[in-house]
Amino acid sequence: RKPVTINTLQSLYRKNEPITMITAHDFPSAHVADHAGMDMILVGDSLAMVALGMEDTSEVLLEEMLLHCRSVARAKTAAFTVGDMPMGSYEIAPEQALETAIRIIKEGRVKSVKLEGGKEMAPAIAKITSAGIPVVAHIGLTPQRQNALGGFRVQGKSTASALKLLSDALAVQDAGAFCVVLEAVPAEVAALVTKKLIIPTIGIGAGNGTSGQVLVQVDMSGYFPPGRFIPKFVKKYGDVWSESMRALTEYKTEVKSRAYPAPEHTYPMPKEEFTEFEK
Ligand code: KIV
Ligand code: NA
Repeated sequence: RKPVTINTLQSLYRKNEPITMITAHDFPSAHVADHAGMDMILVGDSLAMVALGMEDTSEVLLEEMLLHCRSVARAKTAAFTVGDMPMGSYEIAPEQALETAIRIIKEGRVKSVKLEGGKEMAPAIAKITSAGIPVVAHIGLTPQRQNALGGFRVQGKSTASALKLLSDALAVQDAGAFCVVLEAVPAEVAALVTKKLIIPTIGIGAGNGTSGQVLVQVDMSGYFPPGRFIPKFVKKYGDVWSESMRALTEYKTEVKSRAYPAPEHTYPMPKEEFTEFEK
């Protein structure tokens, strides 16, 4: 597969062909995403919960994001890679945002960065893009700001809130973002914002009128224990947890019964050699 570049993504957008994006947080999850033909792979800070067992994304450190970006990058994917900027690593000043973005590129080895926020982040987006680092913006439900939003709530449900979403989208576009994630937004609002922009929108919980879609891989592939909360917008395409459970419980049973390892899993030794050894 030919490497996906920013030009490939722009051409998909021009052809009105939906852009596919999925998260990955390590070498195997990046490999499977790439083999499945994803256009973009996001090392999302959602790895805080799905890979590190943290309560929310506010806990994950830049150093941790760098480690996971690096392991994804080592899969040498054709998919265009994006690294999330963790909370605290970019909000203080555009200079801080650029410094962090440079580390994500140089040490994380991904091709672009993503940050949360609209109008207020425009100077940071402009600073990062001025250094030749492509930026994905993220507006609507921005999980890093969950405490200020009053939790994980749909954004853009009122006229005023939809207008704010649109002005944020235009602001990040004008600042130089090459695409924008719209999270948890009514479908008709996301579709209209998409029409007003000249950069692709990538939706998550934003209906099918966006220029592309993104989901958290662990959620959509069903690699989580029964009972875990999954947002309404997630479609569970697989049941990786059940398959893992099946394999591991069968292994346990076969070890206990000595059915495993069988002769075919065992290294042979010439009989004479063993007779000699036995003495
Ligand atoms: O961290 C993440 O996985 C994300 C996507 C859900 C957009 O930001
Ligand atoms: Na994120």
